[in-house]
Amino acid sequence: MRLRDKKIIVGITGGIAVYKVAELVRLLKKEGMDVQVVMTESATRFVSPLTFETLSGREVLCEQFASTGGISHIELTDWADLMLIAPATANTIGKLASGIADNLLTTMVMACPKAVILAPAMNHRMYDNPIVRDNIKRLSELGHVFVGPEEGELACGWTGRGRLAEPARMVEAVKDVLTPKDLEGERLLVTAGPTREPIDPVRFVSNRSSGKMGYELAKEGRRRGAEVVLITGPTYLKPPYGVTTVMVSTAEEMYNAVMSYFPQSTIVVMASAVADYRPKLIYEEKIKKGESGLTLELERTVDILLELGRNKADKLLVGFALETDNLTENAKKKLREKNLDLIVANTPATMDSDSSSAIIIDSSLNIQTIGECTKEELSALILSRVVELKRRG
Ligand SMILES: Cc1cc2nc3c(=O)[nH]c(=O)nc-3n(C[C@H](O)[C@H](O)[C@H](O)COP(=O)(O)O)c2cc1C
Repeated sequence: MRLRDKKIIVGITGGIAVYKVAELVRLLKKEGMDVQVVMTESATRFVSPLTFETLSGREVLCEQFASTGGISHIELTDWADLMLIAPATANTIGKLASGIADNLLTTMVMACPKAVILAPAMNHRMYDNPIVRDNIKRLSELGHVFVGPEEGELACGWTGRGRLAEPARMVEAVKDVLTPKDLEGERLLVTAGPTREPIDPVRFVSNRSSGKMGYELAKEGRRRGAEVVLITGPTYLKPPYGVTTVMVSTAEEMYNAVMSYFPQSTIVVMASAVADYRPKLIYEEKIKKGESGLTLELERTVDILLELGRNKADKLLVGFALETDNLTENAKKKLREKNLDLIVANTPATMDSDSSSAIIIDSSLNIQTIGECTKEELSALILSRVVELKRRG
């Protein structure tokens, strides 16, 4: 999902977590969004509007009755693609649930025809108050989207549920709301990352796959409304929000996990770099350093993609090919041999990188060349092709 050129109103209300919203505004700007900050009077007591003005590059609006340069609260809500209120205080949540519009922010929400996301943050006792819970329930039923609060240490020194959702999580919620749900009803299985084939208790054979491509595909699939299972080899990445994540280590474990989710999946994207070979013998003790060299005998692992291609029935199957030479020809060969619907071919430069260029080939051998882009953008392009193939039937 690209947020570039999308417009957002960030409403800030008076909670101690206001300082975290500076990071949120920075992240939204980094995504290329146009950000208009609106603060309640209480919010300005915590952090000066100057901070948000500097980060957003726009004048912060606070006053209901001040001139807004000729733009009314109605026009502003027309201008924006959505609103996000962070932190959302118990007070503002209560006002919104009761239809009170007594300051610029609550008036804007009242007039807003677009999606409204609320990120509550408060002491856990306030959050547990049945009135607050009822208000949140009412607003959810009316279509407002809630992100958080999370459990943990609260800024007021207590521990419990009431922490403002992390800024990255709020950005994800924005992407979620703005992404058309064209994979609703689909069950997407994605694999990611490398496998590790043990040599002895401390050593293994592996590769440079970071898992980033598969994780981006899983996130994009969920944003588009699919039910997503991510089967991942060892990576340093955070399990994506809202995705069933299964951690595996060896090719054999990946095979078993894939096979257990394969029957109920409708779309399968194999973006993992599964080892083709593994040591034939796994030493029980750590191999000691000797005077002479050491020869390891390797044996083939199971070819998961081939197995899936043979049994795919009406599932849509997408594979990846990483080639150092003859990229297009080798990718076409793999597409045929593995009975794939789509293959994404790229070069080793993609490994462990946040960006990639690629060639996407479908089973009619149509070739789509994609220049350097982020893996998030590439995942969106791949899943758009999947949607197109699904529609064609
Ligand atoms: C130091 C301090 C911290 C506060 N933190 C929170 C908070 O985290 N969440 C909350 O709902 N209210 C918090 N409040 C209470 C709100 O500031 C108060 O309800 C205020 O009326 C909210 O106004 P607003 O919703 O218009 O911004 C805090 C108050 C003070 C003085």
